[in-house]
Amino acid sequence: MTPPPISRTRCIACGRDYPLAEIRYECDACGSLLEVAHDLERLRRERPAAAWRELFDGRLGARGGPHGSGVWRYHELVLPDLPLDRIVTKPEGNTNLYRVPRLEEISGTAEVYVKHEGENPTLSFKDRGMTAGVSFARHLGVRAVACASTGDTSAAMAAYAAQVDGLRGVVVLPRGKVSLEQLSQPIASGCLTLSLPADFDTCIRLLRDICRRRPLYLLNSVNPVRIEGQKSIGFETVQQLGWAPPEWIVVPVGNAGNISAIGKGLFELRTLGILDRVPRLLGAQAAGAAPLAQASREGYARRIRVTAADTAASAIRIGDPVSYDKAVRVVRESGGHFESATEQEIMDAKALVDAAGVYICPNSATAVAAFLKARAAGTIGRDDRVVVIATAHGCKFSQATIDYHGGRLPGVSPRQANRIVEVEAEVGAMERLLP
Ligand code: F0G
Repeated sequence: MTPPPISRTRCIACGRDYPLAEIRYECDACGSLLEVAHDLERLRRERPAAAWRELFDGRLGARGGPHGSGVWRYHELVLPDLPLDRIVTKPEGNTNLYRVPRLEEISGTAEVYVKHEGENPTLSFKDRGMTAGVSFARHLGVRAVACASTGDTSAAMAAYAAQVDGLRGVVVLPRGKVSLEQLSQPIASGCLTLSLPADFDTCIRLLRDICRRRPLYLLNSVNPVRIEGQKSIGFETVQQLGWAPPEWIVVPVGNAGNISAIGKGLFELRTLGILDRVPRLLGAQAAGAAPLAQASREGYARRIRVTAADTAASAIRIGDPVSYDKAVRVVRESGGHFESATEQEIMDAKALVDAAGVYICPNSATAVAAFLKARAAGTIGRDDRVVVIATAHGCKFSQATIDYHGGRLPGVSPRQANRIVEVEAEVGAMERLLP
């Protein structure tokens, strides 16, 4: 007899549960979001904590195959019922955890790391969720997958869908609000690319509506399967630190799927005894799109929705995050909070980390800026170990970098500008400029 499945989906509000293989993004009973609930008791009986750590450590450096992926290394805790031969992988994950002494000096903090998720195959953390989402889509046998995106989800979905014969991808993008590099990705991968004269919040609302009526498998982070892949960012971070959790993990927040995922995963590790404590989570938003930071200041008294303003951190330009409730829950349970950063703070933080040789995007820099603010306020302490999650590569947002250093970013003074010097094609003129 085959054992019962380990995972089901469960409503985060009323607790009703459903088989994982039924396509559903909201609870039939109350309309709230679903999450994947694993039978953690059974997993705990399967292996003691030390054996889990040994299993995952033993797979480090594995070449080829799903276990070489920084997501599927944790297969038993990600989608344990999904057979390994169903997996669509590049492989993803295994991103560097850089210690950044410059950030330690400037903030007066014991240890500060940047986990560079921009080192994933499509240059953002979204690959971790998409290897889970597209693998599951293939397992279910769906013919078309879709997402709305500020640019990175679409890039990742497109590149994974392109690996599956007969699977069509559809992406819905806010016109003029994604970078050129991001826009090029789904086009290159062969997706149907719809560009709407609307913001991201509108794009996702329209697409969710369409997916209720048509056989399109929705791969935004409302899809709980994606969250399972994404939570591996937290797993990999603590594994890289020898399973000693840092005091803080700082995450840029847009639709709020990622911080929810990281929190969910870390709480699961604690339940399994793999960690003895969960790091505090600091969620970072751009000031013009900061509903959660505002709610955090107001003690979460009411649900806040805003119309997002333009920001260099265009990937987190979201006023009504889909995973709002999940994010509030994990951040509060972790003892953390949300913080916002201005355009000036974001771009200065970016220049600082970029100049340390770790090239990050404005969205990631929002998290760096939030860290600096929380450290200055004393919320983050001098002796703390802090990990900032950089969610995409600087190379996906070249225009913001060039505009900042050229002094052309509206409302931002180029305090740390490294200007391009135009010079005659002549040795003397060049030599006069050399150090
Ligand atoms: N950083 C980057 C680079 C992103 O692309 C996103 C989200 C986030 C942070 C925020 O993550 O939404 O889970 O809170 N990008 C989505 C997209 C919205 O469509 O690519 P989140």
